[in-house]
Amino acid sequence: MLPEKLKTMLSDLPPGFMYLVVLATSLALVPPVLILRARAVPSEHRRIHLIQNMDNQPKFFDQQENLLFRDTRSMRPRVPGTVSRSQMIGDTHYFLGTVDGEFATTFPSQVEVDEALLERGRISFEIYCLPCHGVQGKGDGIIHHRAMVLLNAGTNGTTWVQPKSLHEEAIQDYPLGQIYWTITNGVRNMAGYKSQIRVEDRWAIVAWVEALQLSQDASPDDVPGAESLPTINNVIPGDDMDEEGDS
Ligand code: HEC
Repeated sequence: MLPEKLKTMLSDLPPGFMYLVVLATSLALVPPVLILRARAVPSEHRRIHLIQNMDNQPKFFDQQENLLFRDTRSMRPRVPGTVSRSQMIGDTHYFLGTVDGEFATTFPSQVEVDEALLERGRISFEIYCLPCHGVQGKGDGIIHHRAMVLLNAGTNGTTWVQPKSLHEEAIQDYPLGQIYWTITNGVRNMAGYKSQIRVEDRWAIVAWVEALQLSQDASPDDVPGAESLPTINNVIPGDDMDEEGDS
């Protein structure tokens, strides 16, 4: 059936050539089959990865040699004098609000309590604390109101812990350092603010919290000479507080 020309060409080939062709063709199938198998079958060994992209980055492990450095260590020794940020707490009073393991009862020496500090404290309090604790620190901020709306609407999954009133007796009695500590690290359901508020501003907020407590919970005895000041009763004639009752 084959053309005469092809027949003579084939008969001119060395004996066994056709067997060689068949063998070579079969062997050529082996690599693709192996590759397909490797792709399909799990293996304990790392895959052969011709195009590395960023899958396997060349890197140095501990104790390996690295010729980049003169001492050929891949682990670099610490630069002399390096101090990590968490080790900078020589001054626990200023940074942690503690003295000898107890909450500090005074402001640290770096903090000068003056009007500028109180103003800074008011601004920071109104940015960071007011949304939950309210402008006077009574625990009635806008977020609390919103949470109550959601709770009353029965919105699925809403749970809420009311922000504490900063005028609770226990909190009034907190040492300054404990307020500072609470701002820094948070407490129970309240998150800490150490990553948002700088140390000096945290102390400013402490001063403002104290000012709020003083002003909101003041009694006439706190005001020097209060006896001689006019009281509501004699400023507004006939407006007797007792008559209005405790409503
Ligand atoms: C996202 C709402 C939220 C913000 C913002 C917030 N707090 Fe609170 N705070 C709470 C809640 C809730 C509690 C009560 C936590 C509890 O009892 O689990 C609390 C408790 C406290 C307490 C009482 C701690 C105690 O030991 O009981 C203090 C003091 C306090 N917060 C101060 C602050 C100050 C100062 C700021 C601003 C830097 C602030 N909080 C910002 C929600 C908040």
